[in-house]
Amino acid sequence: MTTTTEPITTSPLSRRPDDAVVGESLHHEAAALHVTGQALYTDDLVGRTGDVLHAHPVQVRAAHALVTRLDVSPAYDVPGVVRVLTAADVPGVNDAGVKHDEPLFPTEVMYHGHAVCWVLGETLEAARRGAAAVVVEHSELPSLVTVEEAIEAGSFQGAQPTLARGDSAAGLARATHVFEGVTTCAGQEHFYLETHSSLAYVDENGQIFVQSSTQHPTETQEIVAHVLGLSSHHVTVQCLRMGGGFGGKEMQPHGLAAVAALGATLTGRPVRLRLSRAQDMTMTGKRHGFHATWRVGFDDDGLLTGLEATLTSDGGWSLDLSEPVLSRALCHVENAYWIPDITVHGRIAKTNKTSQTAFRGFGGPQGMLVIEDIIGRCAPVLGIAPAELRRRNFYVEGQATPYGQVVRHPHRLADAWDQVTETASLDARRAQVDEWNAAHPHRKRGLAITPVKFGISFNFTAFNQAGALVHVYKDGSVLINHGGTEMGQGLHTKMLQVAATALGVPMSKVRLAPTRTDKVPNTSATAASSASDLNGGAVKNACDQIIERLAPVRAALLADGKPDASWEEVVSAAYFARVQLWAAGYFATPGLSWDPAAVRGTPFKYFAYGVAAAEVEVDGFTGAYATRRVDIVHDVGDSLSPLIDIGQIEGGFVQGVGWLTLEDLRWDESDGPGRGRLTTDSASTYKLPSFSEMPTELNVALLERAHEDGVVYGSKAVGEPPLMLAFSVREALRDACGAFGPRGRPVELAAPATPEAVYWALSAARDALRAAPRDGAGATP
Ligand code: MTE
Ligand code: MOS
Repeated sequence: MTTTTEPITTSPLSRRPDDAVVGESLHHEAAALHVTGQALYTDDLVGRTGDVLHAHPVQVRAAHALVTRLDVSPAYDVPGVVRVLTAADVPGVNDAGVKHDEPLFPTEVMYHGHAVCWVLGETLEAARRGAAAVVVEHSELPSLVTVEEAIEAGSFQGAQPTLARGDSAAGLARATHVFEGVTTCAGQEHFYLETHSSLAYVDENGQIFVQSSTQHPTETQEIVAHVLGLSSHHVTVQCLRMGGGFGGKEMQPHGLAAVAALGATLTGRPVRLRLSRAQDMTMTGKRHGFHATWRVGFDDDGLLTGLEATLTSDGGWSLDLSEPVLSRALCHVENAYWIPDITVHGRIAKTNKTSQTAFRGFGGPQGMLVIEDIIGRCAPVLGIAPAELRRRNFYVEGQATPYGQVVRHPHRLADAWDQVTETASLDARRAQVDEWNAAHPHRKRGLAITPVKFGISFNFTAFNQAGALVHVYKDGSVLINHGGTEMGQGLHTKMLQVAATALGVPMSKVRLAPTRTDKVPNTSATAASSASDLNGGAVKNACDQIIERLAPVRAALLADGKPDASWEEVVSAAYFARVQLWAAGYFATPGLSWDPAAVRGTPFKYFAYGVAAAEVEVDGFTGAYATRRVDIVHDVGDSLSPLIDIGQIEGGFVQGVGWLTLEDLRWDESDGPGRGRLTTDSASTYKLPSFSEMPTELNVALLERAHEDGVVYGSKAVGEPPLMLAFSVREALRDACGAFGPRGRPVELAAPATPEAVYWALSAARDALRAAPRDGAGATP
């Protein structure tokens, strides 16, 4: 086993006691409830609530149009319809976003399926019929559906930052090989199993209580309050758990929660809003697709000398999180590689589509795709094996990213790389694959290894804070509450382990109460993979305060001749000595800075590293492929909860494979009446990864001796980084496609590399072999 060689230093936050509960492999705290169907999700509460009204949207089927007439009166003729909600009902601000560019009840339809008003019914069916009866007349406006159309039309929104270091023109001039090209990637539907849902009610005192499937309860609270024209203390938001969020519930739940809350205030009855799958897919935002143009330089040793690029994301109709997503793309455009001179422009296209939003990796994957695509395409022309080209360009100690952050522990990347190379026997398998390919004209195998370096913390510095509330009851039992939400990622499990460790009690002593804004206020989104770092720091801080207060109590018991007093005895003694047994904890990540306009600073506490190697087999007649084997070594620091972390690595990887090789969002780009419609709006037309796409062999190992100083119990974040390990599969597909063609020929492969795209790539390779059987040199990628 290769291990890291760095000296281990520990701060009080990262030091682990000998009897730590963190580090134990435990199953997810609600696993039994999940698999038996007993776990409650927001919409499950409807059956436990009386007198509930159901909300249904009135979606307009036009890519871009002005509403010229809205007549809701026919809806009231439908039996069971109770109320139609329109802009006229909004007492506060008619806007669902934090950027004030998202009218909740719009008069201008900005994308196909945009909801212009909502109908409340005694049943969902009544609300649906009522919605169908509403008369909406509109006049069509010109629309932009693709990012290319938006670029052509100069339709952009938000800031246009530039990442720059050194002199990129000089870097390219210094190069002995300069290549240029275009790289695009598709968006991705979150396809959380639980669609968006909210349940709102108002108590006798006018207090609004919204249960919402939200990753950001505080922001949901703020938006509900501003739509209703209330202060935050009038609104409480609770999130029991989510059936997946993946970033899709970071900003998109707010308007939906506001509709439910508005309905509840107007009718005095609980209002439930749950999107059907088709509504969720046609109304809510997705991962941003990106379009990139680039010019890159390499020297004779294959070292990168310079990069110039323009990244254009497809933001959809409103800004939402597009600006921070673009920042993160810029901050990951170089992935694991040292590029001395670099200029990358970023901009956000405004198109008539759903408002694209956060999705696991938050722009990082799209940025990294650019350099991974460049290396994959250029390596054959440079005559250097892609693995070698990648390895040669890795960051080394002392280097900084283009935005000025020192890359700490870059050797961990090399360590993980060497470990994968060894444990996956890559050299031997390369020879086997070449041999196998020589013997099989119509099927080819491909092998690739790719790195991930992903920055952890919110770029937006203020978000890097968290709170927690820890109660120790008189009997020694413990109840914790923190600002993070649970979406399946195992955050609550980790927080229970942190509390048990910090208090020195067994897990069975600790329970966790649902996330809600009246317990811990002013929380950040559970996002950027940093929820355990932040909330773990806050939980530990609260526990440390309690332990500190218990110390004199313990000392007094010792003086009384009770050296072995149990936890319960100490707690009880503390109560009678009038010592406070509960505490509010707080944590703010130190040492961060970020200037979004200049694209400079030290936005990340640390980098998470990982390496994956993948082997695929491709059928030359159809482009169909199978993933034969994947080997992963990933750096999670000293794991807080190894079973959870391995699950996150596997799940993130597979979700990345879905994005890069299967999931194909298609909008109607024609000029017909369906223009702008999402044509892949269900599981039957949108291909998700399933068991049949799993690698036959999947080996996941955690990087050993990877303690991270200054983070709770020496751990690292794990939620997003593994998604980008999936580049290995796309690069392996490229390798296999290349094997159908002549040596030294660059292979262009679409993202997603669906079987169809793979077929076109291998056909082009095969054609090139026919045209020039022995010579592919001189081509440009
Ligand atoms: N894992 C599951 N099972 N479900 C999810 O929705 N979301 C991912 C990741 N892992 C997600 C998940 C995303 S986008 C993020 S940012 C992190 O979890 C958030 O949680 P964390 O900060 O606790 O890692
Ligand atoms: Mo994750 S995209 O930061 O919610």
